[in-house]
Amino acid sequence: MSKYLNLTALALVLAANPAFAEKYGLGRSAMPEEIAAWDLDVSPDGTGLPDGSGNALDGEEIFADNCAICHGDFAEGVDNWPKLAGGDGTLADEDPLKTVGSYWPYLSTTFDYVNRSMPFGAAQTLEPDDVYAIVAYILYSNDLIDEEFELSKETFLDVEMPNAGGFILDDRAETEYALWRSEPCMENCKDSVEVTMRASVLDVTPEEDSAEPAPVEEAKAQPAPQPAPEPTPVAEPAPEPAPEPEPVMAALDEELVAKGQKVFKKCKACHQVGDGAKHKTGPILNGIFGADVGVQDGFKYSKVMKGHGGVWDEETLTAFLTKPKKYMKGTKMSFAGLRKDADILAMIEYLKSVSQ
Ligand code: HEC
Ligand code: HEC
Repeated sequence: MSKYLNLTALALVLAANPAFAEKYGLGRSAMPEEIAAWDLDVSPDGTGLPDGSGNALDGEEIFADNCAICHGDFAEGVDNWPKLAGGDGTLADEDPLKTVGSYWPYLSTTFDYVNRSMPFGAAQTLEPDDVYAIVAYILYSNDLIDEEFELSKETFLDVEMPNAGGFILDDRAETEYALWRSEPCMENCKDSVEVTMRASVLDVTPEEDSAEPAPVEEAKAQPAPQPAPEPTPVAEPAPEPAPEPEPVMAALDEELVAKGQKVFKKCKACHQVGDGAKHKTGPILNGIFGADVGVQDGFKYSKVMKGHGGVWDEETLTAFLTKPKKYMKGTKMSFAGLRKDADILAMIEYLKSVSQ
């Protein structure tokens, strides 16, 4: 909001000192109307609020006409458009729902936001009474006022925002800056530095080769390390002519496999393969070549992938890995795709190698 304040301030300076504007060749002085149009901001204490009033009952209709298409009939949000209500008590959760009700500390922010920038694409088309009514409706949707509450300049501060105490004033200028400006320590500084968290926990650093298939020696040491092959489901009669014996499990091109293993670095943030692999953001990919789509035990797939059907073979994997979101609209695999055909070929060869 300070951006607007500064611009307003600049406009005021230029208006108050026409000579100033001319001296620097900055066009003409701003007109009072222009300044008024900029000077919209409302402070937490209500300073700057326009005359007018409105309640949730009126607001409901205006909201339905102007806002509900994106924010939902009850301000609960539609698809990925922002939710304006709900989220009470979720702020400490891993995935908090931050809304006007649960998060915003000052009602002035809501008023200002709606007044200044909504409806999206038709900003500043609402009258003050409409804005008051809409803000009242958002509050009502958050169970913060009842439907008759008349919101206006006078009643503005009567509304208690649940997270009002959740923000602190930034006092670093007084409490910390002085410390930062002292001479930096260049020697004999701190005894030890403790690393408390690794970036890989946050899934940003590809792991080194630890997730690779165990070395052959280990595999040999234990007799019959492989789990019994899953019985192929035979319940459904094959609708197509009998498939040819799968050539895929035949000899692999080791060079390609090695290249694919490198390409797999791009997948490692989310997928594991090899002994002891676990589901991470994405499912384990052992045995994925030739497997049905979306059936790995214990992984929570998106609806689209779960219900997709089909088998991962050369054709489907190529299409999927080229553009995951295009091949499977709505998949939660957040990966843009592999751009080079050669990488995809190698990737598939590698997936075959971890499928044997
Ligand atoms: C066409 C879709 C659309 C319509 C219609 C619309 N909005 Fe929005 N609204 C958005 C988008 C997109 C954002 C997020 C903008 C951003 O983050 O920069 C938003 C953000 C908001 C926010 C801030 C939410 C937050 O938590 O950051 C409020 C409050 C809001 N809108 C109120 C309204 C009101 C009131 C109306 C009707 C007068 C309205 N909007 C109409 C799309 C829409
Ligand atoms: C940002 C995380 C992420 C990255 C990176 C990623 N994936 Fe995925 N992958 C997922 C998720 C999540 C799913 C499950 C998608 C769903 O349920 O819609 C998935 C699903 C899959 C599936 C289908 C599995 C099944 O059981 O049907 C394959 C195959 C796959 N990914 C291969 C790859 C390959 C190969 C790469 C690297 C080139 C890769 N993914 C990169 C997250 C990721």
